[in-house]
Amino acid sequence: MALIEVRDLVKEFRRPAARRGGWRDIARLFRPEYTIHRAVNHLTFSIEEGELVGFLGPNGAGKSTTIKMLTGILMPTSGHLSVAGLHPARQRRLHARQIGVLFGQKTQLWWDIPTIESLRALKAIYGVPDEIWRRNLDLFRELLALHEFEHVPVRQLSLGQRMRADLAAALLHDPKILFLDEPTIGVDVLAKERLRTFIREINRDRKVTVLLTTHDMGDIEKLCSRVMIIDRGTLLYDGPTEALKQTFGGLRTLVIDVEGEGLQPPREIFSPEVRETFGIASVEWNGSRVTLSFDPRKTAVSDLIAAAAERLPVRDLLVEDVAIEEVVRSIYLHSEQIRATDSGGAAARQGAGRETG
Ligand SMILES: Nc1ncnc2c1ncn2[C@@H]1O[C@H](COP(=O)(O)OP(=O)(O)OP(=O)(O)O)[C@@H](O)[C@H]1O
Ligand SMILES: [Mg+2]
Repeated sequence: MALIEVRDLVKEFRRPAARRGGWRDIARLFRPEYTIHRAVNHLTFSIEEGELVGFLGPNGAGKSTTIKMLTGILMPTSGHLSVAGLHPARQRRLHARQIGVLFGQKTQLWWDIPTIESLRALKAIYGVPDEIWRRNLDLFRELLALHEFEHVPVRQLSLGQRMRADLAAALLHDPKILFLDEPTIGVDVLAKERLRTFIREINRDRKVTVLLTTHDMGDIEKLCSRVMIIDRGTLLYDGPTEALKQTFGGLRTLVIDVEGEGLQPPREIFSPEVRETFGIASVEWNGSRVTLSFDPRKTAVSDLIAAAAERLPVRDLLVEDVAIEEVVRSIYLHSEQIRATDSGGAAARQGAGRETG
């Protein structure tokens, strides 16, 4: 059995119905009316011990709701859920000892007392032995530079410092699994780098399994070999981050610099026939620079480079990768189609290289 097993997970929220005016509003004083909103819709996935999985989706997709169910904060409406053998909400106290949680939007620490005192209080709550406490504190001071601000009350910390303090709090009791909901939100590039390094090391050295929600594709590219993408509560993709580009990636770009300053190579070189043959989608000329965009599924880069070298006095070449940012943007934009077509689901499963049924 996988460390985290989620099958057909559903979470519905009741929302007060829109006001319609007239006698209905009076009637509602006695019998409130609600509409049901399904935030998580038959979600199925599993995560093995030691994985570091990225969890993506547009605003309102159901990521935080899923994490709240996995951490036992919310009770699922229906479906099967098991985290390291426990049902998070039903065995909440036991569960709390095996997981660490960070919600980037909201601190778990006490606002008014020095950071180190907050951590000490958590040590007592979790019953962390002195030896582990000292070892972890050393680690947090080294990797998160906790010592720089540990005597400052949380309310006075910068966002990046607060995130580091919260990360320390989440890991104080040596949890097996770490749930991170937007740990880099609003954090500057340097602090982001430090957080990423820390998350990577915790995963690699301590074998902590991590589920990471973020809107920052840099986090995903730098940390996660696997990514799950959800929208409107359903899974659009689950598989290797690399395969995402192959499955949903758009065009790649070949930039060619030709010999000679300001030389204008004849435009006919890439005639419609040549474009057709080599799967070139567009050609841009700019002085001595030619930029070709092409579909990597139709053309091998090597063929394209050979074709260019035959026709142009090539001085320099650069193949630009598909930006993952673009890929994800297009998945969000076309999520309706991906959901509707069989191939979308098939792509998700194929990319995953595992059966999710
Ligand atoms: N307590 C609640 N009561 C009613 N509706 C809720 C509640 N919590 C979340 N929702 C709704 O459920 C949907 C999913 O919300 P959720 O917070 O899980 O999204 P998210 O993927 O984390 O988005 P974001 O990227 O903005 O953080 C949203 O439509 C939200 O309005
Ligand atoms: Mg959220």
